[in-house]
Amino acid sequence: MGSVYVFNHPLIQHKMTYIRDKNTGTKEFRELVNEVSTLMAYEITRDMPVKEVTVETPVAKAQCKVLAGKKLGLVPILRAGLGMVEGILKLIPAAKVGHIGLYRDPETLEPVHYYAKMPSDIGERELIVIDPMLATGGSASEAIRALKKMGAKNIKLMCLIAAAPGIDRIKKDHDDVDIYVAAVDETLNEKSYIVPGLGDAGDRLFGTK
Ligand code: URA
Repeated sequence: MGSVYVFNHPLIQHKMTYIRDKNTGTKEFRELVNEVSTLMAYEITRDMPVKEVTVETPVAKAQCKVLAGKKLGLVPILRAGLGMVEGILKLIPAAKVGHIGLYRDPETLEPVHYYAKMPSDIGERELIVIDPMLATGGSASEAIRALKKMGAKNIKLMCLIAAAPGIDRIKKDHDDVDIYVAAVDETLNEKSYIVPGLGDAGDRLFGTK
């Protein structure tokens, strides 16, 4: 069964407060999302395997560790997921980045894929799917389903804020996927926005409305 990890480090909580605040403008919102993403990337990579290597310091030989595991891939769900990529790449600059775009058909309510471009070796990579707002979980679940169909075997889901319905949906549809969040909120409103949430993450990141 997948687990939910809430990164409630004081720095993350502090920055999330200003991210939530409706008076925070686009520039500052973007910078804060970047910063929280970097802090979350530090935590999310905590279990990455390392291997021993020998280096020579100016003084002597030293047994040290370098990363040994699978290579990483980031998969932001368009468009709000883009806002977290740069912050993660600060710590993991060699990660490849795939993109996936989905929208919900207003009549059938079924998710429609409009864009997907992945690294060719996603089956060998540890993938971090990025969806800042896990509300109903519909887009994230569908993106993960599509990635598994393309060969992905090892997927983590990274969000800024998750609500209980989204968490339940991912647990039900993908019990092999762990969820990493900065905050968990109680509920959704009638438009499926997270309450209290932060509003529309895409609009706030890109200054659209
Ligand atoms: N997407 C958002 O951007 N905000 C929400 O609250 C829910 C989904």
